[in-house]
Amino acid sequence: MHEAILARSFSKHEKRKLGVWAFLSSLLIGLVFCALLKAYSMGPLPALNLQLSRSIDFKVLSIMDASSYHKARDPPSRFQIVEASNYYPKAREHSNSSLKSVDVIQPKNFEPLLAPIQCNFSQPRSDFCEINGDVRLQGNSSTIFIISASKSGTDVAKPEESSWSVRPYARKIDRSVMSKIREFSLKSSAPSGKQSIARCTKNHTAAGVVFSIGGYAGNHFHDFTDVIIPLYITSRQYKGNVEFLIANIKPYWLAKYSVLLKALSKYDIINIDQDREIHCFPSMIVGLKAHKELSIDPSRSFPNRDSYSMRNFTQFLRSAYWLKRNTAISLKDRHKRKPRLLIISRKMSRALMNEDELAAEARRVGYDVVVADARGELGKFARMVNSFDVMMGVHGAGLANSVFLPEKAVLIQVVPLGLEGLSKYDFELPAKDMNLRYLEYKISAKESSLTEKYPSDHPALREPSSFNKGWDAFKAVYLDGQNVSLDVSRFRTTLLKAIEFLHHN
Ligand SMILES: *[C@@H]1O[C@H](CO)[C@@H](O)[C@H](O)[C@H]1NC(C)=O
Ligand SMILES: *[C@@H]1O[C@H](CO)[C@@H](O)[C@H](O)[C@H]1NC(C)=O
Ligand SMILES: *[C@@H]1O[C@H](CO)[C@@H](O)[C@H](O)[C@H]1NC(C)=O
Ligand SMILES: *[C@@H]1O[C@H](CO)[C@@H](O)[C@H](O)[C@H]1NC(C)=O
Ligand SMILES: *[C@@H]1O[C@H](CO)[C@@H](O)[C@H](O)[C@H]1NC(C)=O
Ligand SMILES: *[C@@H]1O[C@H](CO)[C@@H](O)[C@H](O)[C@H]1NC(C)=O
Repeated sequence: MHEAILARSFSKHEKRKLGVWAFLSSLLIGLVFCALLKAYSMGPLPALNLQLSRSIDFKVLSIMDASSYHKARDPPSRFQIVEASNYYPKAREHSNSSLKSVDVIQPKNFEPLLAPIQCNFSQPRSDFCEINGDVRLQGNSSTIFIISASKSGTDVAKPEESSWSVRPYARKIDRSVMSKIREFSLKSSAPSGKQSIARCTKNHTAAGVVFSIGGYAGNHFHDFTDVIIPLYITSRQYKGNVEFLIANIKPYWLAKYSVLLKALSKYDIINIDQDREIHCFPSMIVGLKAHKELSIDPSRSFPNRDSYSMRNFTQFLRSAYWLKRNTAISLKDRHKRKPRLLIISRKMSRALMNEDELAAEARRVGYDVVVADARGELGKFARMVNSFDVMMGVHGAGLANSVFLPEKAVLIQVVPLGLEGLSKYDFELPAKDMNLRYLEYKISAKESSLTEKYPSDHPALREPSSFNKGWDAFKAVYLDGQNVSLDVSRFRTTLLKAIEFLHHN
């Protein structure tokens, strides 16, 4: 059953990415997706950055305006601008409930917490809270109790009970997918407070990490960018001494990624969907930290500890799946074998119509060629991908298998009409972070099946970036309604360029 899942095409994710694309294009051309942009082009946004930290005598509540975060980056790259302006309106929407609960808290009502809580609701990709101290989770009521204590001698004034809510899935911008993610409420209260404290039925000694695998589970790209990489960022620091409390469980998903889950945690998974236990932990992270699409920003991972990069992540994958090759072939010295090229096949949309012809041309150029669609048991597929030096495919979830390539291998992304922006953020930038060589083949209008649908001077062909009929129409035309047939002699240049890269390895 989970075979079918690997290659499943993009869906809503691309909707979000279209926003990135649209904003970019609008910077350049100024007339793209007016409807989308209207929603996105708001002024400074009151996204919240709430920090409660423990101290014997006082607590700190700092509310930081998202716009100051934005300005603080100096100089902001275009990606950061794009990311920020796309994310913040939604970030604000999601911190609405948080805003409400935070409004309730007045610093004068604070009592020292036994458990210091640090939440960040102003990160663009996800909300998360880190709790150190007595923390108790009850799955069936989606509640996390954080036990705080009254300062000695002031028992009369009971601390205000405070609460936050977190949907622990790293695609905060995507309204529709987030609505499917279970929301957890975090309640901080005094042991002597009105609310009786849940009694532990299971005591744990390791740290707990709470996350959801709902959302786009099953889409290979999303599994990595929304869950696996954020989970790595969040939990690798514990070196296995961490328990995963998972919501919106899908058994096939756990089976598919069991090797990685086991490599990150030496404990069994705790399914908290229906669970009636009260799990008590000495510390917990609710939600996953996430930096960027299919990648990691080393400067943001554990500033005070070892930092992790995307290369550390791919190294981790190679070790978890026993992948043999760390580095692609070097053609510098005369080699016995030919460089190996994997052509990722797509069948439903964005199909490569002349796959066989391309494979034949690649063989003439000197490659050992395999055409495959990304199916089958993940470990087996990972080992297969790792045996290649060059991987090519049309923009789509199958290219997320690039995480299994050896370093310095070449990723060739075929970019259909209209998909330049998506292609860059989903695969080009990640490939560079993985220390892969990246090549792009942008098709010309005549290589697109859209030529059969539109006259040659139609704006859909000549200027896809001016296409402004909304997301659904865009998706129907460029993502679902387009196949490609490459000009073999033009593509030959890209095949030769990849070989040249391998000569420099
Ligand atoms: C945010 O909360 C306010 C006040 O409760 C409400 O009026 C508003 O509609 C909410 N916004 C969203 C986007 O849910
Ligand atoms: C919360 O996230 C923002 C944005 O990444 C960051 O600037 C800020 O330092 C974080 N706050 C805390 C308390 O970690
Ligand atoms: C968990 O630990 C607490 C405090 O030490 C103890 O009172 C409780 O009985 C323990 N619960 C279980 C199920 O072991
Ligand atoms: C959760 O389980 C506990 C213990 O069995 C039960 O008392 C409680 O009513 C349940 N809560 C919900 C919301 O089902
Ligand atoms: C990440 O990889 C680098 C380079 O291989 C290595 O020096 C570093 O120790 C790794 N970081 C961690 C936390 O393992
Ligand atoms: C693209 O190719 C697939 C498989 O050959 C076919 O089923 C589909 O109808 C084609 N789509 C378009 C828009 O030509």
